[in-house]
Amino acid sequence: MTTTSSAPGKVYLFGEHAVVYGEPAVPCAIERRARVTVTARDDDRVRVSADDLSLDGFTVEYGSGSDEQPDVDVPTPLIEAAMGYVEESLEQARDAADRPEAGFDVEIESEIPLGAGLGSSAAVVVAGIDAATRELGVELTPEDVAERAYRVEHEVQDGQASRADTFCSAMGGAVRVEGDDCRAIDAPDLPFVVGYDGASHDTGELVAGVRDLRDEYDFAADTVEAVGDLVREGERALADGDLDTLGELMDFNHGLLSALGVSARSLDNLVWAAREGGALGAKLTGAGGGGCIVALDEGDGVETALSLAPECEQSFRAELATEGVRVE
Ligand code: PMV
Repeated sequence: MTTTSSAPGKVYLFGEHAVVYGEPAVPCAIERRARVTVTARDDDRVRVSADDLSLDGFTVEYGSGSDEQPDVDVPTPLIEAAMGYVEESLEQARDAADRPEAGFDVEIESEIPLGAGLGSSAAVVVAGIDAATRELGVELTPEDVAERAYRVEHEVQDGQASRADTFCSAMGGAVRVEGDDCRAIDAPDLPFVVGYDGASHDTGELVAGVRDLRDEYDFAADTVEAVGDLVREGERALADGDLDTLGELMDFNHGLLSALGVSARSLDNLVWAAREGGALGAKLTGAGGGGCIVALDEGDGVETALSLAPECEQSFRAELATEGVRVE
């Protein structure tokens, strides 16, 4: 048998980083998906290939039941990171099915750039757990997949992960995450435009940077709390479908993230290009450092302005993905 599952990436309307410290965040799933195809094997080996993961493509093979190290043809930090997520996802599937020795062939295709703030790792983990458990005859609810995917991110990111990315990818739509409390929320059709600078970031490093600042300065801790207040204000604007206020709060959120040291010149330039193109608001999305910004724009001015910005490798309109993880 072979099973393919897919799961969406996401943008943060508000609240990244602060969510790590128990403040609320509102990520929204977008119609850019990762697809993971899993075939259960008769032996305990694992073979992982990816043709399109913003990488040149790679194949890794190893024995799951032994101490054998994955044999990586093209050892780059990004591939190593991707393999960490895949290995832990398969471990979760083995655990859910009580099949500790299960081997798999895994094929990953992703439309989501890696490490760019669009939740690529969460989407691969969510789709991978869903496909691998189904291959072993177990059907998890999206909530169960989200829980197991969170454990994977928590493990791979050394305990520095919130539930936001994984819950959003599993459930789809707009969600609200505050500590362990995760729920789907109603949202109007938000006119997201994404700008991508072509760079990737190390989420763990950026999270650690904010943690250090927060430990060192009370005003940095206050800034994290201010993000929480902003998110609560944003929830009211979201419920009212008030796009102007949402935009204003996105601009404010970008300023607070900048103050916490997680923006970059390229991201600031993209944010300003989006604003000059008529955005209702614009901010970085995800961990920052490099990667993507998200803007709100009902017209086509922002996409045009971003495509003309020298830092912009790609810009695109991102529809809200109402469906989370699904079998293809
Ligand atoms: O850039 P991403 O997609 O890894 O998003 C990270 C979001 C953070 O809030 C910075 C970390 C987290 O686990 O919530």
